[in-house]
Amino acid sequence: MSMRAVGSRSKRVRGLRVAAVGACLAIVAAGCGDDGDDGGSGGGSGSGGQTSSVGKIGVILPDSKSSDRWETADRPLLEAAFQAAGVEYDIQNADGDATQMQTIADQMITSGVTVLLITNLDSGSGAAIQERAKAQGVATIDYDRLTLGGSAEYYVSFDNVRVGELQGEGLVKCIDEMGLEKPIVAELNGSPTDNNATLFKQGYDSVLDPLYADGTLVKGPDQSVPQWDNQQAGTIFEQMLTQEPNIRAVLAANDGLGGAAIAVLERQGLAGQVPVTGQDATVEALQEILAGNQCMTVYKAIKKEADAAAELAIALAKGEPADTPDTVHDPEGNRDVPSVLLEPVAIYKDNVGDVIDDGYVTRDQVCTGEFAALCDQAGI
Ligand code: BGC
Repeated sequence: MSMRAVGSRSKRVRGLRVAAVGACLAIVAAGCGDDGDDGGSGGGSGSGGQTSSVGKIGVILPDSKSSDRWETADRPLLEAAFQAAGVEYDIQNADGDATQMQTIADQMITSGVTVLLITNLDSGSGAAIQERAKAQGVATIDYDRLTLGGSAEYYVSFDNVRVGELQGEGLVKCIDEMGLEKPIVAELNGSPTDNNATLFKQGYDSVLDPLYADGTLVKGPDQSVPQWDNQQAGTIFEQMLTQEPNIRAVLAANDGLGGAAIAVLERQGLAGQVPVTGQDATVEALQEILAGNQCMTVYKAIKKEADAAAELAIALAKGEPADTPDTVHDPEGNRDVPSVLLEPVAIYKDNVGDVIDDGYVTRDQVCTGEFAALCDQAGI
């Protein structure tokens, strides 16, 4: 059963190209309403509600601390997509605990979800969840992070190597603009158990390595942050700076890690003199960019990601074929996973307003207190 959609995948284009996602959701919603009593009420706890024609869709998010995005963007945007389609859903968060994720998955399967979306905490535990789901006839989707050696029917994410390239290019741009000569660059990488962190690093190292090699930049400390833990990132960066006080640029893999580095730089009176990168366009990061403490962030339009994932989940639940525009190779499972990969965007001081215009964060959130004047200056 879990293979049904893949087995019947046709070359027919069903409009999964992102621009058409909204329209497809509308079609799906109309289909769901056919029986007149679709149970579109699903909520965070999987309670009650009548069963819709597509059954219930389960989502397990990874944690709420490694990035603001999971609870402030992914959850509400997935909810909105499922509600718009009139399907029942249950979204839970594993709070950084892989055992907890397995328990939630088991409960969701027992409660009758027909499709399960997970953002794994590591590929091993993700693959185990997917195997168990498959054995129960429950199809799975890798949401944002690919499960290496897993069995998900689809993978929905961004072009994560491109995310890293934007970070590398952004850091170089800021180094140039600040007139820094041969700066020592520190790299604060994401979780070693997150395949995305590997892809981000692949992207930024493809930009930085040649510049280390030709002496434009000097390679400094380079370390991964377990579970993207922001607190540990602060400790790690503090140690980096103690060992190498002349670090003058920081490639941080997301805004949480970047913020931790900025806090340390602030204590050393170095904030604003050392460009720092990020990812996720969090409110804090956008404020740090306006304040000149952060060089750039990478904006990923999570609405498109949530919409694409919801549409695929619904297609799977209905046993309908869906054509995806991309495939990603899983080297561990040695298979190509049908995928939707969205385009990330680099954000600097001059286009912070684009993130607000896109509706990802509000002007009120970013332009509070001391940031009001900076927003005015930036024309936001
Ligand atoms: C996501 C990033 C996020 C990080 C930490 C990655 O897999 O793609 O958006 O910042 O995990 O949660």
